[in-house]
Amino acid sequence: MSISTGIIGGTGLQSLNGINELSRNNVSNRYGNVSAPLINVSINGIEAVFLARHGTPHTIPPHKVNYRANIYALKEMGVNNIISVNVVGGITKSMSPGTIVLPHQIIDYTYSREHTFFEENLESVVHIDFTNPYCNKLRNQLIAISKSQKVTFIPKATYAATQGPRLETAAEIRRIENDGCDIVGMTGMPEASLARELDINYVSICLVVNWAAGKSDEIITMELIHSHIESGMRKILELIKMAVINQ
Ligand code: HPA
Repeated sequence: MSISTGIIGGTGLQSLNGINELSRNNVSNRYGNVSAPLINVSINGIEAVFLARHGTPHTIPPHKVNYRANIYALKEMGVNNIISVNVVGGITKSMSPGTIVLPHQIIDYTYSREHTFFEENLESVVHIDFTNPYCNKLRNQLIAISKSQKVTFIPKATYAATQGPRLETAAEIRRIENDGCDIVGMTGMPEASLARELDINYVSICLVVNWAAGKSDEIITMELIHSHIESGMRKILELIKMAVINQ
């Protein structure tokens, strides 16, 4: 049986705690090694597959993630919907730490990442449509689920994908805000466009874990980031379970 939903967990979601694990497989493909074993899980009898983007343990920095191998492996398993989980910094006023956000747009500030499947052995040049980078059907489904579960989240935002692994300067965040971005993270691209290239529906659930650089007086530390993760990820996991069951 092919598996419809793939879940890519980021910082703070290294595994699907409390969910029935069926099997795990180390996978590599023509693009290299997948970040971590692909874990087959069953949620209320519905199978899904989980992948920890930064490896297990959490050692692969955002610019070193093999996004192509990861997305290709999920496609090979038959996945046609990806729910990605990303932690982000909050830029605009409503994006305070602890907020869950479902972005609808993205601006890519990353560089030097392997970012396309369409560069070799082509019969002709391919340009995918990326006007709306996230799948609206999956977004609407998650919006409906969040309402029924009484999980509050912001259903629209523009995500800035930065290179990392360092955090941004205050001036960079001012520029990114002027560009129209609400949240900033390091893993949104090229994951979203690679999924589109392989015709996989893709949605991202973001958890704000700090104010972006220059937006508060606090120094951004890993401790600060982790202090917002536990309760936020618990809520996100509930949304994901419902989404898998309703697929
Ligand atoms: N910037 C970039 N990526 C992030 C941040 C941030 O402030 N917080 C969590 N991931």
